[in-house]
Amino acid sequence: MQDIDIHQITEEAIAQMAGTPDARLKEIMEAAVRHLHAFAREVRLTPDEWLQGIAFLTAVGQMCSPIRQEFILLSDVLGLSRLVNVMHDAAGREAAGTETSLLGPFFREGAPEIAMGGSLARSPGGPELVLYGQVRDAQGQPIPHAVMDVWQTNAEGLYDLQAHAPDEMDMRGRLRCDAEGRYFLRTEKPIGYSIPMDGPVGALVRAQARHGFRPAHIHILITAPGHRDLVTALYLSDDPNVDSDTVFGVSKSLVVTPRRDLPDSPAPGAEAVRYDFTLSRARGEGSGRVGADPSTLVPSN
Ligand SMILES: [Fe+2]
Repeated sequence: MQDIDIHQITEEAIAQMAGTPDARLKEIMEAAVRHLHAFAREVRLTPDEWLQGIAFLTAVGQMCSPIRQEFILLSDVLGLSRLVNVMHDAAGREAAGTETSLLGPFFREGAPEIAMGGSLARSPGGPELVLYGQVRDAQGQPIPHAVMDVWQTNAEGLYDLQAHAPDEMDMRGRLRCDAEGRYFLRTEKPIGYSIPMDGPVGALVRAQARHGFRPAHIHILITAPGHRDLVTALYLSDDPNVDSDTVFGVSKSLVVTPRRDLPDSPAPGAEAVRYDFTLSRARGEGSGRVGADPSTLVPSN
């Protein structure tokens, strides 16, 4: 037993955990204790402040339900989900591979099949946007018949789960690329939307004077045998929040600007985006993705 000062307590805590049989658990918890203690020392955390922190984390847990995951939302708004995904990508994505983005909570299995040139919108009405391009491997060779799932908000900023009865699907579809890996679909221009702001994470975001919005985007999941699933999204450059996504999903290479004058557009005159996707070879690693943008399955707005 020795007197414990503000540095010795860290060593004492780590020493007491030294016998942890699981080497990875030992590594993670030692680092967690080291960094948590350093954090408390840096901000000179007071007991009242720590109790406030515990109350916040308690509220985050109490907000969670089978259809809402407030801890993932917390991880998202702190940038931790993005960090973990970037590290995961660095381990498995080939250099030429398209950058990934957050899967988000609105992906659904069983989206309606759409034909080449078909529309994601059940009843098109909003401003039309055409997406086309090619799916290739890291050597630039087309990947024949890759399967693309595409989903997004409608022109009011709502996903089908928010806008319709839960069993109705809209603004999503599954398209099979042709033998040259080409795809072509029509959709409506999505608009940005707010993360759920009615819980403790929303209160934190508001206390930080952040806007809480995600910029307009289109989610895309591409699968092909022998290749790593590509979970990504395209972000519209004219959204005012494209540089300040509350959950840090945007990469520069995923920002697109629709144009009416693309020379090879299959829908001349329409606003269109050409984007060619590059899939990495599969290496057998799990998807392991912390995926969420608004991080709740049935958001409040
Ligand atoms: Fe989204």
